[in-house]
Amino acid sequence: KKDWLVLGIESSCDDTGAAVLRGDGQILGEALASQAGIHEQWGGVVPRLAQEGHKQAIDGTVDEALRRAGVATGDISAVAVTVGPGLGLCLEVGVRKAIHIAAEHRLPLVRVHHMEAHMMVTRLPPPAEASETSRPADPRQPDFPFITLLVSGGHNMAVLTRGVGRHTILGSTIDDSIGEAFDKTARLLGITKVPGGPHLERLAKDGDPKVHPLPKPLAKTRDKVLQEGCNYSFSGLKTAVRTLVERELHSAKSAALSEEELHKAKADVAAAFQHMAVRHLCERASRAAGWALELEPGTKCLVVAGGVAANQAVRKGLEEVAREHSLQMCCPPPRLCVDNGVMVAWAGIERLLLGLFEEPPSADSADSHVEI
Ligand code: KG4
Ligand code: ZN
Repeated sequence: KKDWLVLGIESSCDDTGAAVLRGDGQILGEALASQAGIHEQWGGVVPRLAQEGHKQAIDGTVDEALRRAGVATGDISAVAVTVGPGLGLCLEVGVRKAIHIAAEHRLPLVRVHHMEAHMMVTRLPPPAEASETSRPADPRQPDFPFITLLVSGGHNMAVLTRGVGRHTILGSTIDDSIGEAFDKTARLLGITKVPGGPHLERLAKDGDPKVHPLPKPLAKTRDKVLQEGCNYSFSGLKTAVRTLVERELHSAKSAALSEEELHKAKADVAAAFQHMAVRHLCERASRAAGWALELEPGTKCLVVAGGVAANQAVRKGLEEVAREHSLQMCCPPPRLCVDNGVMVAWAGIERLLLGLFEEPPSADSADSHVEI
Protein backbone atom coordinates (compact mmCIF):
# COMPACT_ATOMS: atom_id res chain seq x y z
CA LYS A 1 0.00 0.00 0.00
CA LYS A 2 2.89 2.27 0.71
CA ASP A 3 4.03 1.83 -2.86
CA TRP A 4 0.67 2.73 -4.39
CA LEU A 5 0.77 5.74 -6.67
CA VAL A 6 -2.57 7.50 -6.69
CA LEU A 7 -3.46 10.27 -9.11
CA GLY A 8 -6.03 12.77 -7.83
CA ILE A 9 -7.99 15.09 -10.11
CA GLU A 10 -10.09 18.09 -9.03
CA SER A 11 -12.21 20.29 -11.32
CA SER A 12 -15.39 21.08 -9.39
CA CYS A 13 -15.24 24.85 -9.59
CA ASP A 14 -12.58 27.16 -11.02
CA ASP A 15 -9.33 25.38 -10.18
CA THR A 16 -7.94 22.49 -12.15
CA GLY A 17 -5.87 20.43 -9.74
CA ALA A 18 -3.89 17.22 -10.07
CA ALA A 19 -1.51 15.42 -7.74
CA VAL A 20 0.31 12.14 -7.39
CA LEU A 21 0.51 10.73 -3.87
CA ARG A 22 2.20 7.61 -2.61
CA GLY A 23 0.00 5.23 -0.61
CA ASP A 24 1.47 6.51 2.66
CA GLY A 25 0.39 10.05 1.81
CA GLN A 26 3.71 11.44 0.62
CA ILE A 27 3.11 14.05 -2.04
CA LEU A 28 5.25 13.20 -5.05
CA GLY A 29 4.01 15.82 -7.47
CA GLU A 30 1.20 18.34 -7.71
CA ALA A 31 -0.03 20.99 -10.12
CA LEU A 32 -2.77 23.58 -9.98
CA ALA A 33 -4.15 25.74 -12.78
CA SER A 34 -6.15 28.59 -11.36
CA GLN A 35 -8.71 30.51 -13.41
CA ALA A 36 -8.02 33.70 -11.48
CA GLY A 37 -8.57 36.53 -13.92
CA ILE A 38 -11.01 34.72 -16.18
CA HIS A 39 -14.18 35.38 -14.20
CA GLU A 40 -13.40 38.79 -12.80
CA GLN A 41 -15.34 40.86 -15.29
CA TRP A 42 -18.45 38.76 -14.60
CA GLY A 43 -18.23 39.04 -10.82
CA GLY A 44 -18.42 35.31 -10.23
CA VAL A 45 -17.60 31.94 -11.72
CA VAL A 46 -19.33 31.49 -15.08
CA PRO A 47 -19.88 27.73 -15.57
CA ARG A 48 -19.40 27.71 -19.38
CA LEU A 49 -16.18 29.73 -19.15
CA ALA A 50 -14.97 27.62 -16.25
CA GLN A 51 -15.60 24.46 -18.24
CA GLU A 52 -13.62 25.90 -21.13
CA GLY A 53 -10.78 26.76 -18.73
CA HIS A 54 -10.74 23.22 -17.35
CA LYS A 55 -10.77 21.73 -20.84
CA GLN A 56 -7.73 23.78 -21.77
CA ALA A 57 -5.89 23.07 -18.53
CA ILE A 58 -6.71 19.47 -17.69
CA ASP A 59 -4.17 17.61 -19.83
CA GLY A 60 -1.32 19.99 -18.99
CA THR A 61 -2.11 19.94 -15.26
CA VAL A 62 -2.21 16.15 -15.04
CA ASP A 63 0.99 15.88 -17.11
CA GLU A 64 2.70 18.44 -14.90
CA ALA A 65 1.78 16.58 -11.68
CA LEU A 66 3.07 13.32 -13.19
CA ARG A 67 6.24 14.98 -14.44
CA ARG A 68 6.96 16.53 -11.03
CA ALA A 69 6.36 13.15 -9.41
CA GLY A 70 8.72 11.57 -11.93
CA VAL A 71 6.21 8.88 -12.89
CA ALA A 72 4.53 7.87 -16.13
CA THR A 73 0.78 7.37 -16.43
CA GLY A 74 1.46 3.66 -16.72
CA ASP A 75 3.02 3.59 -13.22
CA ILE A 76 -0.16 4.84 -11.52
CA SER A 77 -2.08 2.38 -9.31
CA ALA A 78 -5.45 4.16 -9.13
CA VAL A 79 -7.20 7.36 -10.18
CA ALA A 80 -9.27 9.41 -7.73
CA VAL A 81 -11.54 12.15 -9.00
CA THR A 82 -13.99 14.65 -7.52
CA VAL A 83 -17.47 13.69 -8.68
CA GLY A 84 -19.39 16.36 -6.76
CA PRO A 85 -20.72 18.56 -5.41
CA GLY A 86 -19.76 21.34 -7.77
CA LEU A 87 -20.55 22.77 -11.19
CA GLY A 88 -21.69 19.88 -13.39
CA LEU A 89 -20.02 21.24 -16.51
CA CYS A 90 -16.71 21.51 -14.69
CA LEU A 91 -16.85 18.22 -12.82
CA GLU A 92 -17.46 16.50 -16.13
CA VAL A 93 -14.05 17.59 -17.47
CA GLY A 94 -12.15 16.02 -14.57
CA VAL A 95 -14.30 12.91 -14.49
CA ARG A 96 -13.87 12.39 -18.23
CA LYS A 97 -10.10 12.68 -17.91
CA ALA A 98 -10.02 10.30 -14.94
CA ILE A 99 -12.13 7.70 -16.77
CA HIS A 100 -9.88 8.00 -19.83
CA ILE A 101 -6.73 7.32 -17.83
CA ALA A 102 -8.32 4.58 -15.73
CA ALA A 103 -9.74 2.87 -18.83
CA GLU A 104 -6.54 3.13 -20.83
CA HIS A 105 -4.35 1.68 -18.08
CA ARG A 106 -6.96 -0.61 -16.50
CA LEU A 107 -6.86 1.21 -13.16
CA PRO A 108 -9.37 1.29 -10.30
CA LEU A 109 -11.39 4.51 -10.17
CA VAL A 110 -12.23 6.20 -6.87
CA ARG A 111 -15.14 8.62 -6.78
CA VAL A 112 -14.46 11.35 -4.27
CA HIS A 113 -16.91 13.73 -2.60
CA HIS A 114 -15.46 17.23 -2.73
CA MET A 115 -16.29 18.07 0.88
CA GLU A 116 -14.93 14.77 2.16
CA ALA A 117 -11.69 15.57 0.33
CA HIS A 118 -11.52 18.98 2.06
CA MET A 119 -11.87 17.36 5.48
CA MET A 120 -9.82 14.19 4.94
CA VAL A 121 -6.74 16.08 3.78
CA THR A 122 -6.34 17.07 7.43
CA ARG A 123 -5.40 13.42 8.03
CA LEU A 124 -2.62 13.52 5.47
CA PRO A 125 0.60 12.34 7.16
CA PRO A 126 3.39 14.90 7.43
CA PRO A 127 6.15 14.88 4.83
CA ALA A 128 8.89 12.36 5.49
CA GLU A 129 11.71 14.71 4.55
CA ALA A 130 12.54 17.04 7.41
CA SER A 131 13.82 19.50 4.86
CA GLU A 132 10.33 20.19 3.55
CA THR A 133 9.21 23.38 5.21
CA SER A 134 5.99 24.10 3.34
CA ARG A 135 3.91 22.06 5.82
CA PRO A 136 3.88 22.30 9.60
CA ALA A 137 5.79 19.76 11.67
CA ASP A 138 2.70 19.01 13.76
CA PRO A 139 -0.28 18.60 11.47
CA ARG A 140 -2.41 17.14 14.32
CA GLN A 141 -3.97 14.46 12.19
CA PRO A 142 -7.44 13.79 13.59
CA ASP A 143 -8.70 10.31 14.41
CA PHE A 144 -12.39 9.43 14.02
CA PRO A 145 -14.79 10.59 15.28
CA PHE A 146 -14.20 14.28 14.68
CA ILE A 147 -16.26 17.37 13.96
CA THR A 148 -15.69 19.25 10.75
CA LEU A 149 -16.64 22.75 9.92
CA LEU A 150 -16.63 23.06 6.15
CA VAL A 151 -16.34 26.67 5.16
CA SER A 152 -15.99 27.29 1.46
CA GLY A 153 -17.55 29.18 -1.42
CA GLY A 154 -20.06 26.43 -2.10
CA HIS A 155 -20.67 25.01 1.37
CA ASN A 156 -21.14 25.91 4.94
CA MET A 157 -21.62 22.88 7.12
CA ALA A 158 -20.96 21.43 10.52
CA VAL A 159 -20.51 17.68 10.29
CA LEU A 160 -19.89 14.87 12.74
CA THR A 161 -17.65 12.37 10.96
CA ARG A 162 -17.44 8.85 12.32
CA GLY A 163 -15.40 7.52 9.42
CA VAL A 164 -14.89 7.68 5.64
CA GLY A 165 -18.36 8.12 4.12
CA ARG A 166 -19.95 8.20 7.59
CA HIS A 167 -21.06 11.76 8.15
CA THR A 168 -23.91 13.33 10.13
CA ILE A 169 -24.74 16.89 9.14
CA LEU A 170 -25.35 18.95 12.29
CA GLY A 171 -25.98 22.25 10.56
CA SER A 172 -25.74 23.96 7.20
CA THR A 173 -26.64 27.25 5.61
CA ILE A 174 -30.19 28.19 4.73
CA ASP A 175 -29.01 30.67 2.07
CA ASP A 176 -25.43 31.73 1.25
CA SER A 177 -22.22 30.09 2.37
CA ILE A 178 -19.70 32.15 4.30
CA GLY A 179 -17.34 32.15 1.30
CA GLU A 180 -20.11 33.49 -0.91
CA ALA A 181 -20.86 36.16 1.68
CA PHE A 182 -17.19 37.18 1.70
CA ASP A 183 -17.14 37.28 -2.09
CA LYS A 184 -20.36 39.28 -2.41
CA THR A 185 -19.28 41.75 0.27
CA ALA A 186 -15.95 42.13 -1.49
CA ARG A 187 -17.81 43.06 -4.67
CA LEU A 188 -19.96 45.58 -2.83
CA LEU A 189 -16.73 47.18 -1.63
CA GLY A 190 -15.40 47.45 -5.15
CA ILE A 191 -12.99 44.51 -5.03
CA THR A 192 -12.94 43.13 -8.54
CA LYS A 193 -10.61 40.17 -7.99
CA VAL A 194 -12.34 36.78 -7.90
CA PRO A 195 -12.63 35.24 -5.40
CA GLY A 196 -12.83 38.37 -3.29
CA GLY A 197 -12.61 36.65 0.13
CA PRO A 198 -8.84 36.88 0.70
CA HIS A 199 -8.81 40.50 -0.53
CA LEU A 200 -11.62 41.37 1.84
CA GLU A 201 -9.63 39.87 4.70
CA ARG A 202 -6.67 42.06 3.77
CA LEU A 203 -8.90 45.15 3.60
CA ALA A 204 -10.49 44.33 6.97
CA LYS A 205 -7.06 44.46 8.62
CA ASP A 206 -7.03 48.25 8.07
CA GLY A 207 -10.51 48.72 9.55
CA ASP A 208 -12.19 48.94 12.92
CA PRO A 209 -15.08 46.47 13.38
CA LYS A 210 -16.70 48.63 16.06
CA VAL A 211 -17.43 51.61 13.83
CA HIS A 212 -20.50 49.97 12.23
CA PRO A 213 -22.19 47.34 14.39
CA LEU A 214 -24.08 44.92 12.14
CA PRO A 215 -27.08 42.75 13.13
CA LYS A 216 -26.37 39.21 14.28
CA PRO A 217 -27.78 36.69 11.77
CA LEU A 218 -30.85 34.68 12.86
CA ALA A 219 -30.94 36.47 16.22
CA LYS A 220 -34.41 37.90 15.65
CA THR A 221 -36.07 35.07 13.73
CA ARG A 222 -39.31 33.77 15.23
CA ASP A 223 -38.28 30.24 14.27
CA LYS A 224 -36.86 28.86 17.51
CA VAL A 225 -35.14 25.95 15.77
CA LEU A 226 -33.25 28.36 13.54
CA GLN A 227 -32.53 30.75 16.35
CA GLU A 228 -31.15 28.14 18.70
CA GLY A 229 -29.78 25.60 16.24
CA CYS A 230 -26.59 25.06 14.30
CA ASN A 231 -27.75 26.35 10.91
CA TYR A 232 -26.27 29.37 9.22
CA SER A 233 -27.62 32.35 7.35
CA PHE A 234 -25.54 35.04 5.70
CA SER A 235 -27.99 36.77 3.36
CA GLY A 236 -29.28 39.19 6.03
CA LEU A 237 -25.74 40.23 6.82
CA LYS A 238 -25.12 40.84 3.15
CA THR A 239 -28.21 43.07 2.91
CA ALA A 240 -27.09 45.02 5.98
CA VAL A 241 -23.69 45.53 4.37
CA ARG A 242 -25.35 46.72 1.16
CA THR A 243 -27.30 49.35 3.09
CA LEU A 244 -24.15 50.38 4.92
CA VAL A 245 -22.17 50.66 1.70
CA GLU A 246 -24.88 52.81 0.13
CA ARG A 247 -24.91 55.10 3.17
CA GLU A 248 -21.17 55.32 3.76
CA LEU A 249 -19.61 54.91 0.37
CA HIS A 250 -22.11 55.90 -2.30
CA SER A 251 -23.53 59.00 -0.69
CA ALA A 252 -22.79 62.67 -1.25
CA LYS A 253 -20.77 62.67 1.95
CA SER A 254 -18.37 60.03 0.64
CA ALA A 255 -17.80 61.93 -2.61
CA ALA A 256 -15.67 64.41 -0.68
CA LEU A 257 -13.43 61.75 0.87
CA SER A 258 -9.75 61.57 0.01
CA GLU A 259 -8.43 58.30 -1.31
CA GLU A 260 -7.02 57.45 2.08
CA GLU A 261 -10.29 58.25 3.85
CA LEU A 262 -12.22 56.20 1.33
CA HIS A 263 -9.91 53.24 1.93
CA LYS A 264 -10.47 53.55 5.69
CA ALA A 265 -14.25 53.82 5.18
CA LYS A 266 -14.22 50.63 3.09
CA ALA A 267 -11.94 48.90 5.57
CA ASP A 268 -14.33 49.69 8.44
CA VAL A 269 -17.21 48.06 6.55
CA ALA A 270 -15.04 45.05 5.68
CA ALA A 271 -13.98 44.70 9.32
CA ALA A 272 -17.59 44.99 10.55
CA PHE A 273 -18.71 42.31 8.11
CA GLN A 274 -15.85 39.96 8.91
CA HIS A 275 -16.36 40.42 12.64
CA MET A 276 -20.06 39.49 12.50
CA ALA A 277 -19.58 36.67 9.97
CA VAL A 278 -16.95 35.09 12.20
CA ARG A 279 -19.09 35.61 15.31
CA HIS A 280 -22.06 33.88 13.66
CA LEU A 281 -19.84 31.08 12.42
CA CYS A 282 -18.36 30.55 15.87
CA GLU A 283 -21.62 30.73 17.79
CA ARG A 284 -23.09 27.96 15.63
CA ALA A 285 -19.87 25.96 15.56
CA SER A 286 -19.84 26.00 19.33
CA ARG A 287 -23.38 24.59 19.44
CA ALA A 288 -22.49 21.96 16.86
CA ALA A 289 -19.50 20.97 18.97
CA GLY A 290 -21.81 20.59 21.98
CA TRP A 291 -24.20 18.37 20.00
CA ALA A 292 -21.38 16.29 18.57
CA LEU A 293 -19.87 15.70 21.99
CA GLU A 294 -23.24 14.53 23.25
CA LEU A 295 -23.54 12.07 20.36
CA GLU A 296 -19.89 10.99 20.43
CA PRO A 297 -18.21 11.86 23.73
CA GLY A 298 -14.92 10.52 22.36
CA THR A 299 -14.67 13.35 19.82
CA LYS A 300 -11.35 15.10 20.20
CA CYS A 301 -10.85 17.26 17.13
CA LEU A 302 -12.52 20.17 15.43
CA VAL A 303 -11.43 20.06 11.82
CA VAL A 304 -11.77 23.33 9.94
CA ALA A 305 -11.59 22.88 6.19
CA GLY A 306 -12.48 24.65 2.94
CA GLY A 307 -11.21 27.86 1.38
CA VAL A 308 -12.39 30.16 4.18
CA ALA A 309 -10.25 28.21 6.68
CA ALA A 310 -7.37 30.25 5.27
CA ASN A 311 -8.86 33.34 6.97
CA GLN A 312 -6.95 34.28 10.12
CA ALA A 313 -9.97 35.75 11.95
CA VAL A 314 -11.93 32.56 11.23
CA ARG A 315 -9.07 30.44 12.55
CA LYS A 316 -8.69 32.52 15.68
CA GLY A 317 -12.42 32.44 16.45
CA LEU A 318 -12.68 28.71 15.94
CA GLU A 319 -9.57 28.05 18.02
CA GLU A 320 -11.45 29.70 20.86
CA VAL A 321 -14.49 27.46 20.20
CA ALA A 322 -12.26 24.39 20.24
CA ARG A 323 -10.67 25.47 23.51
CA GLU A 324 -14.12 25.98 25.11
CA HIS A 325 -15.01 22.38 24.34
CA SER A 326 -11.55 20.95 25.09
CA LEU A 327 -11.16 20.00 21.45
CA GLN A 328 -8.03 20.20 19.38
CA MET A 329 -8.44 22.35 16.30
CA CYS A 330 -7.01 20.75 13.18
CA CYS A 331 -6.57 22.67 9.94
CA PRO A 332 -4.93 21.65 6.72
CA PRO A 333 -2.07 23.98 5.81
CA PRO A 334 -3.48 27.01 3.90
CA ARG A 335 -2.09 25.72 0.61
CA LEU A 336 -4.27 22.60 0.96
CA CYS A 337 -7.36 24.54 2.13
CA VAL A 338 -8.18 25.73 -1.38
CA ASP A 339 -9.35 23.29 -4.04
CA ASN A 340 -6.45 21.08 -5.07
CA GLY A 341 -5.53 17.67 -6.41
CA VAL A 342 -3.71 16.53 -3.26
CA MET A 343 -6.88 16.38 -1.17
CA VAL A 344 -8.62 14.31 -3.84
CA ALA A 345 -5.74 11.85 -4.12
CA TRP A 346 -5.59 11.51 -0.31
CA ALA A 347 -9.37 11.02 0.05
CA GLY A 348 -8.95 8.45 -2.72
CA ILE A 349 -6.29 6.61 -0.72
CA GLU A 350 -8.53 6.56 2.37
CA ARG A 351 -11.29 5.03 0.22
CA LEU A 352 -8.95 2.55 -1.48
CA LEU A 353 -7.83 1.30 1.94
CA LEU A 354 -11.47 0.49 2.72
CA GLY A 355 -12.10 -1.12 -0.67
CA LEU A 356 -14.35 1.75 -1.74
CA PHE A 357 -13.41 1.92 -5.40
CA GLU A 358 -14.70 0.84 -8.79
CA GLU A 359 -13.23 -1.66 -11.16
CA PRO A 360 -11.45 -0.14 -14.20
CA PRO A 361 -14.01 1.48 -16.48
CA SER A 362 -14.31 0.32 -20.07
CA ALA A 363 -12.50 2.29 -22.74
CA ASP A 364 -15.66 3.64 -24.35
CA SER A 365 -17.31 4.84 -21.13
CA ALA A 366 -15.40 8.11 -21.10
CA ASP A 367 -16.80 9.13 -24.43
CA SER A 368 -20.33 7.85 -24.13
CA HIS A 369 -21.74 9.08 -20.87
CA VAL A 370 -20.14 10.71 -17.90
CA GLU A 371 -22.12 10.06 -14.78
CA ILE A 372 -21.47 12.45 -11.93
O1 KG4 B 1 -12.79 25.61 -0.87
P1 KG4 B 1 -12.69 26.65 -1.93
O2 KG4 B 1 -11.36 26.89 -2.58
O3 KG4 B 1 -13.70 26.38 -3.08
C1 KG4 B 1 -14.99 25.93 -2.85
O4 KG4 B 1 -15.19 24.70 -2.73
O5 KG4 B 1 -15.86 26.82 -2.74
O6 KG4 B 1 -13.22 27.98 -1.27
C2 KG4 B 1 -13.25 29.19 -1.99
C3 KG4 B 1 -13.86 30.24 -1.09
C4 KG4 B 1 -14.11 31.54 -1.81
O7 KG4 B 1 -15.39 32.01 -1.48
C5 KG4 B 1 -13.02 32.45 -1.26
O8 KG4 B 1 -13.35 33.81 -1.27
C6 KG4 B 1 -12.89 31.94 0.14
O9 KG4 B 1 -12.98 30.54 0.01
N1 KG4 B 1 -11.63 32.34 0.76
C7 KG4 B 1 -11.54 33.24 1.77
C8 KG4 B 1 -10.16 33.36 2.08
N2 KG4 B 1 -9.46 32.54 1.24
C9 KG4 B 1 -10.38 31.92 0.44
N3 KG4 B 1 -12.48 33.93 2.42
C10 KG4 B 1 -12.07 34.75 3.40
N4 KG4 B 1 -10.79 34.94 3.74
C11 KG4 B 1 -9.80 34.27 3.12
N5 KG4 B 1 -8.53 34.47 3.46
ZN1 ZN C 1 -13.67 23.44 -2.33
